[in-house]
Amino acid sequence: MVLMKKYEILKKRALASNVNEYVIYAPLVAKHCLAGQFVILIVEPDGERVPFTICDYSRSEGTVSILVQEIGYTTAKLAMLNVGDALQDFVGPLGNPTDLSEYKNVVLVGGGIGSAVIYPQAKQLKRDGKAVDVIVGARNESLLMYVDEFKANSDNLYLITDDGSNGRKGFVTDMLKSLVESGKQYDCVFAVGPLPMMRAVCNLTKELGIHTIVSMNSMMVDGTGMCGCCRLTVDGKTKYACIDGPEFDGHAVDFDEAILRSKIYKEQEQAHLCNLRGTYGKN
Ligand SMILES: Cc1cc2nc3c(=O)[nH]c(=O)nc-3n(C[C@H](O)[C@H](O)[C@H](O)COP(=O)(O)OP(=O)(O)OC[C@H]3O[C@@H](n4cnc5c(N)ncnc54)[C@H](O)[C@@H]3O)c2cc1C
Ligand code: FES
Repeated sequence: MVLMKKYEILKKRALASNVNEYVIYAPLVAKHCLAGQFVILIVEPDGERVPFTICDYSRSEGTVSILVQEIGYTTAKLAMLNVGDALQDFVGPLGNPTDLSEYKNVVLVGGGIGSAVIYPQAKQLKRDGKAVDVIVGARNESLLMYVDEFKANSDNLYLITDDGSNGRKGFVTDMLKSLVESGKQYDCVFAVGPLPMMRAVCNLTKELGIHTIVSMNSMMVDGTGMCGCCRLTVDGKTKYACIDGPEFDGHAVDFDEAILRSKIYKEQEQAHLCNLRGTYGKN
């Protein structure tokens, strides 16, 4: 019998430039997690706590999959690990599972790394025998993820890239607008991606009168509602993405505030990354 280390990386696969999928041995998380929830992991002793969506899991194998975009210090440290290495900590499942059961015609809209969040939703809707269309957008072809998996788990898959290198040229909002104008009827849009993209989708769906759910990727520390780091304003009230979300009614989210808060530590994040790459003070 092969004995697995706690939080061992069992598989690592490059899915796009600077994006890796990791399959982690974490039986207790795998036993309880559901689509829409996330984990907080620590890469090394004294490392920072960073949240990632659970994009797949196997209860029988005790594994949880995450899709990670290398964007700063901790994700760069994670990218240096390989199969056989183990994470320092891996806590979850956190947040509330998604409930799309009341909707009949859902369109999932994923921008960039947002594919990690909409993929388990597509699988769940398919399992429930619901109609599901998927729009996946990225800056270019090399950043499109899970194309085959979405084909297998949707009724229609629409690809769109900023530069037209795969699928239609344009933004996810262009695709959604033309689908609705062509007669498609959706009772729910589930949109996940960078904050400006989710705001643009919500502005459009407000005009179109379609209920919209977004998954907020606010900065997090404890993930238990204690530190206040992930605070948002939703419908004029204070909410915490980690315990009240991460999903919210997109038309009620104050995106301007969320975007402002997401930039608070930009300078420190840059210095941190430069220290890792040995380029601090050199540019
Ligand atoms: C609920 C949730 C789910 C997420 N799911 C995914 C996912 O599936 N795949 C993925 O690649 N990314 C996901 N993220 C974002 C991911 O947590 C950040 O990219 C990561 O923390 C960046 O850390 P860093 O040190 O590499 O970068 P840094 O240089 O520290 O930060 C880069 C940017 O990442 C964001 N960020 C930094 N620290 C945190 C933090 N502690 N919590 C949240 N955001 C932070 C900020 O916007 C920051 O500007 C998710 C975030 C949340 C809140
Ligand atoms: S992460 Fe601390 S309150 Fe949400």
